[in-house]
Amino acid sequence: MSDEKKANDFSRRGFIKGVGAGIAGSCVLPALENAAVAQDGTGQKAHAGKEVLSLTVNGKPVRVLVEPKTTLVEVLREHLQLTGTKLVCNKGTCGGCTVLLGGQAVYSCHMLALDAAGQEVTTIEGLMTGEELHPVQQAFVDKDGLQCGFCTPGQVMAAQALLLKHPQPTREQVLEGMSGNICRCAAYPNILASALAAAEKMRK
Ligand code: FES
Ligand code: FES
Repeated sequence: MSDEKKANDFSRRGFIKGVGAGIAGSCVLPALENAAVAQDGTGQKAHAGKEVLSLTVNGKPVRVLVEPKTTLVEVLREHLQLTGTKLVCNKGTCGGCTVLLGGQAVYSCHMLALDAAGQEVTTIEGLMTGEELHPVQQAFVDKDGLQCGFCTPGQVMAAQALLLKHPQPTREQVLEGMSGNICRCAAYPNILASALAAAEKMRK
């Protein structure tokens, strides 16, 4: 294997590991769906007060039993094991839990799961195509748009939402569009460069 290929491989694996993008997570959805339906059909009393939530996550229809107070991030991380979405402040202030809801960036810790019923949710796991990183993820690798990586899934999803809205964003539009995502490592210059590089990649 050439040095360049090894370096690319290393970057890709490191990125996937670093942001906790559980590739396997998307594979468990049908099983979870079946489990939820079985519980719904056989355990009405034990699950009193819970409701069946149907939504689409990363292109797959899922149904889970939730309490009305359950947040979207809890469904993603605890019911579906999609732990790439991080729970940081749990107060709707940092953007660490950002996912796409119908193409719009939302704080999944600040949203009741039942409010996402019938809608399309995309998480960091849903951006990849097989083993191939999405252009936004690749841009974060190429431009070193992370240090500890904890805020990175949220930053990537915010950048993706921004680029869906502004495919050719100005520097100011990137700064404004991603202003809801805090990076405690202050990797902001590289995050900005990553978002601009992603826009460039996606234009090609
Ligand atoms: S964890 Fe949701 S905004 Fe901070
Ligand atoms: S890279 Fe560490 S919090 Fe952003």
